[in-house]
Amino acid sequence: MNIVLSGLADKGWCVLPDFLAPDRVAALREECLARHGKGNFHAAGVGSGRAHVVSEVRSDSILWVEPDDPHPAVREYVGATEALRQAVNRDFFLGLHELEAHFAVYPQGAFYKKHLDRFRDDDRRTLTAIVYLNEAWTEADGGLLRFWPDPSGEGEALDIVPAGGTLVTFLSELYWHEVLPAQRTRLALTGWFKRR
Ligand code: OGA
Ligand code: MN
Repeated sequence: MNIVLSGLADKGWCVLPDFLAPDRVAALREECLARHGKGNFHAAGVGSGRAHVVSEVRSDSILWVEPDDPHPAVREYVGATEALRQAVNRDFFLGLHELEAHFAVYPQGAFYKKHLDRFRDDDRRTLTAIVYLNEAWTEADGGLLRFWPDPSGEGEALDIVPAGGTLVTFLSELYWHEVLPAQRTRLALTGWFKRR
């Protein structure tokens, strides 16, 4: 947790491998795929409210996670993010109030073009927290998170491998990022801590 807090203090973002233990990641991956298999996911939209689907921008599909989801692995994820929320609120004055989170499945070929996470019409999303659920992912599998450390969205970008258990967190309004096309099914739990 200290790595995350110092990363946020120094730069406003952090990449932390093994935020979740491999067995927890495996349980979440199985649950994600089980729910996906039931056809519960829907094509992701862009924008808030009754989002419309813009397939030129993103081609993943998502399923929202309810905060009181009873599945044990989901409870642990919610618990881990709650600990993160409290630590961040203790050290910074972000006033993070709640997490909204969804499973995301990127089928082969899916992508999410360069964007910021904060909506124009809703500025409550404050801190993004993505946890990957992939097994043995390598650069050759594509689906890298391309991240621009300079808030201008220009200059050199980092390419982050979406390895299972890795947490990527950043201030939602500042950092441009993009998901490069995945070469095989790519799974994540994507969350946003919101202020009131
Ligand atoms: C998002 C997003 C990045 C990722 O869902 O807004 O940018 O690596 N996801 O899955
Ligand atoms: Mn995003």
